[in-house]
Amino acid sequence: MQLITTTSALQEALANAHASHRQIGLVPTMGALHPGHRSLIERARRENDVVVVSVFVNPIQFNNQEDLAKYPRTAEADCQLLQHAGADIAFLPSVEEMYPTPVTDVYHFGALEEVMEGPQRPGHFSGVAVVVRRLFDLVQPTRAYFGEKDFQQLAIIRNLIAQIGSDIDIVACPIVRDDDGLALSSRNMRLSSEARRVAPLIYATLREAVLLSSSLSMEQVKHFVLSKLTATTLFEPEYFEIVDDSTLQPIANWGEGQGVVGCIAVWLDGVRLIDMVRFRP
Ligand code: PAJ
Repeated sequence: MQLITTTSALQEALANAHASHRQIGLVPTMGALHPGHRSLIERARRENDVVVVSVFVNPIQFNNQEDLAKYPRTAEADCQLLQHAGADIAFLPSVEEMYPTPVTDVYHFGALEEVMEGPQRPGHFSGVAVVVRRLFDLVQPTRAYFGEKDFQQLAIIRNLIAQIGSDIDIVACPIVRDDDGLALSSRNMRLSSEARRVAPLIYATLREAVLLSSSLSMEQVKHFVLSKLTATTLFEPEYFEIVDDSTLQPIANWGEGQGVVGCIAVWLDGVRLIDMVRFRP
C-alpha cells in the first residue's frame, strides 16, 4: 500500500492506472476507521483494479467547531486497517494540501437539503460536496463507495453527480452494526460506558417502529419513536422523519412514496448519532 499525502503524488501514482484504463474505486472517509468503513473498502477491492481510500477530517463540513476539535484522529490504526482491507493507496492530505486557497465554492441541493440534517447543520452538505468533488477530480474513479448510514449524504452525492454531469458510479453500501444493533460510527468511541450500554435502544426502537407500521398510522409511529427515546435518560432525539428514499421528502401516510425509510438523529449524553431503517424496499 502506498501512503500519499500530496495531491501531486496522488495524481502521479494514478497516472499509469488511468493510461491503462484500469478501474479505480474510491472510498472517501474521515478516518477513525471501523468495520463499517472496512466493508466499503472490501467491496471496492472486489469490484476494481485499484482501490484509493482518502482519510481527511474535512473542516468545512463541520458547522460546530467543538465537534471538529473532538473528532477522533487515529491515523496509525487507520493505515493498518487500510492495509489489511486491501487498499492500494491511502491518501491522507493536510488541510493546506486539500485547500491551498480559501474555499469559495458553494453547492445547493434544493429540497434535498431542506430536511433532516440540512436545517440542523447549515453549510454541512456544501462542505461535503466540495471535498467529494475535489476527490473525484483528483482520483477520477470508476466507482465511489458511500454508506447508507449517512442516507441523506448518499442522496446529496447522487445529486452532485447529476449537477456536474459525471459518470462515476455511486455504490451504496448497507449499514454495518455492532452485535447489539448499534450502527458503527467513529463517534461511538466518544460515548461514555453508560451511554454505550443504552445506545442500542436507537436501532431497537427503529425496528419496533417497522413492526408497528402495519397497525399504526405514520403520525402514531413517529410519535412512538420520539416519545420512547425522549422518555429514556441520556437520550435527546433531534428528529425522526419518515421519507421517500429518493426525494427524501417526508410522506404523510403509508400509501405514499416508493421506497420508504425512517431517518433519525439523537443526542446521547453529548454525542450526536444518526441511524436509519427501511420501512419499504
Ligand atoms: P465518514 O463518516 O468517515 O464515513 C465514510 C463513509 O463510511 C461514508 O460513506 C459513511 O456512510 C460510511 N460509513 C460510516 N459508518 C458506516 C457503517 N456503520 N456502515 C456502513 N457504512 C458506514 O461520511 C463521511 O466520512 C464524510 O462526510 C465524507 C464523505 C468522507 C466527506 O468528508
